[in-house]
Amino acid sequence: MTGRLEGKVALVIGAARGIGEGIAERFAEEGAQVVIADTQVEAGRATAARLKGHFVETDISRHDHAQRAVQTALDGFGALDILVQNAGIYPWTLIENISPDEWDKVLAVNLKGTFLSARAALPHMKTRGYGRMVFTSSITGPKVTSPGHGHYSASKAGINGFIKAAALEFSGYGITVNGIEPGNILTSGMQQHRSAEFIQSMEAAVPLGRLGTPRDIANCALFLASDEAAYITGTTIVVDGGQTLPEGADFRIAPR
Ligand SMILES: NC(=O)c1ccc[n+]([C@@H]2O[C@H](COP(=O)([O-])OP(=O)(O)OC[C@H]3O[C@@H](n4cnc5c(N)ncnc54)[C@H](O)[C@@H]3O)[C@@H](O)[C@H]2O)c1
Repeated sequence: MTGRLEGKVALVIGAARGIGEGIAERFAEEGAQVVIADTQVEAGRATAARLKGHFVETDISRHDHAQRAVQTALDGFGALDILVQNAGIYPWTLIENISPDEWDKVLAVNLKGTFLSARAALPHMKTRGYGRMVFTSSITGPKVTSPGHGHYSASKAGINGFIKAAALEFSGYGITVNGIEPGNILTSGMQQHRSAEFIQSMEAAVPLGRLGTPRDIANCALFLASDEAAYITGTTIVVDGGQTLPEGADFRIAPR
């Protein structure tokens, strides 16, 4: 099916590369006009040019940048229908070594950035009586975790709480608020921040037998951003190839 987002304007934050780039690409394929917001200027511009959209340099942990990103959509395309806050950082550090500054940084981008993006998009969506907000959470924090993910887990569990509160508060304005909990998705960020051993062990833990792709997440974002999801709000969808299903480590059926 094509044209599911025809006539819609989408702001995708953290879309220069990885999952966010996949989401922006999928939205553009379905007819949306896209605004790419990211700290990475060169890569962000290239993605925007490829998708015939606009780019705006954005550090989503900053209130003024969040407002400027929304304004770019309004100035460039005259409206904002869909907000995706996907920017996230995931340094690997054991809790005993996390500095207060590192804690603040992870929470500022992942969690405060989610609040700031919603806060910036709200006035326009409220006035129009329409909006779709989609936030990238994670299975890490809300469902499971592993050592080295203390701050990250807290930030992603916080996003799920915020989704519920925002969905309730915005329900009278025609705005839905939902999230996606990706499992392990092979992106350049993942390859940069995680060891090859970690990535292999994650792959072995996925019942469907492979790591996820940005497109796997983008297809879910497309659904949540579309009119087909009009009656869904305040929830998250797990997209993890079954990774969070097993009760124990040995989940494959043993051959007899
Ligand atoms: N890759 C995975 O396995 C996985 C799993 C679960 C959740 N997630 C989440 O998905 C999202 C994207 O992950 P990814 O693997 O594609 O990461 P990535 O590092 O490949 O891409 C993240 C993008 O966000 C941008 N970004 C970082 N900080 C920003 C900021 N302050 N303001 C604006 N943009 C910023 C980066 O420049 C980059 O373009 C993150 O929120 C991450 O926590 C990823």
